[in-house]
Amino acid sequence: MNDQPPKVDGATVCADFNAINTVLHYTRAAHFIGLWKSEWTLIERYLPDRTAHILEAGCGAGRVAVGLWHQGYRNITAFDFASELIEQADSLKQEQGITGITFLQADATRLGESSLIDYTRFDGVLFMFNGMMQIPGRENRRAAMRELSRVCRPSAPFIFTTHDREDPKDLKAWAKEAELWAKGEQNPRLLEFGDRYFSDETGNTFMHLPDRKEIQEDLALTGWTHVHDTTRNELASETPKVRNFSDNCRFWVAKKS
Ligand SMILES: C[S@@+](CC[C@H](N)C(=O)[O-])C[C@H]1O[C@@H](n2cnc3c(N)ncnc32)[C@H](O)[C@@H]1O
Repeated sequence: MNDQPPKVDGATVCADFNAINTVLHYTRAAHFIGLWKSEWTLIERYLPDRTAHILEAGCGAGRVAVGLWHQGYRNITAFDFASELIEQADSLKQEQGITGITFLQADATRLGESSLIDYTRFDGVLFMFNGMMQIPGRENRRAAMRELSRVCRPSAPFIFTTHDREDPKDLKAWAKEAELWAKGEQNPRLLEFGDRYFSDETGNTFMHLPDRKEIQEDLALTGWTHVHDTTRNELASETPKVRNFSDNCRFWVAKKS
């Protein structure tokens, strides 16, 4: 009999994001934190045209989409697979009398199931605050990258963030984790080296922490050309509110090949 607990999968992550404390956390972020300086620096650099049709994946409760609307963008499609978060995003949109953002429920690994996304050719795509790394399984992350490339026009920019497994301050901890994997003693719910699944006051979080080589390989395999990557700290000095909400991360820019 196999008494191992099940691996984390997309359904686990979706349920975790629909949990009440997590919904509150991302709803507060949409209402009170808004766009980070680092996000705005890159989005304005690579998508300066306010008429651009932008696709935002993993939009949560609307923090980035609504922030972009306030910067003058009027043609945004934003989706998330967590229905509770989309409900919050829609109510923020109504509260602020926003037109020009469509929020919808969809799974980044299966965009063909959403006709509103499937038949559009977007000018740029965003997957902010490490959302793509919350897809369990490298093949599934690649599926999302392929899908996002498929629904973009040629040369469209793709901006996303990840944690950085090569961050010098974490190297010792990863070396220890590697020893656990070598002995088969890692958390049995994890799928791949670099995965973490933990609980805190905001709920359960699955996160894959990649190294740079992994992301470069995956971009090249899924219809993207790597343009640039840099850490958030190198891009901008964030407010304490943003730094409390999220630690440093790596920003990636690619363009559709
Ligand atoms: C860290 S949260 C960021 C939310 C929002 N972008 C923000 O910055 O406040 C990551 C988001 O990605 C979403 N997500 C993860 N996997 C997804 C998938 N396969 N399809 C759609 N959304 C997904 C989660 O539901 C969650 O809302």
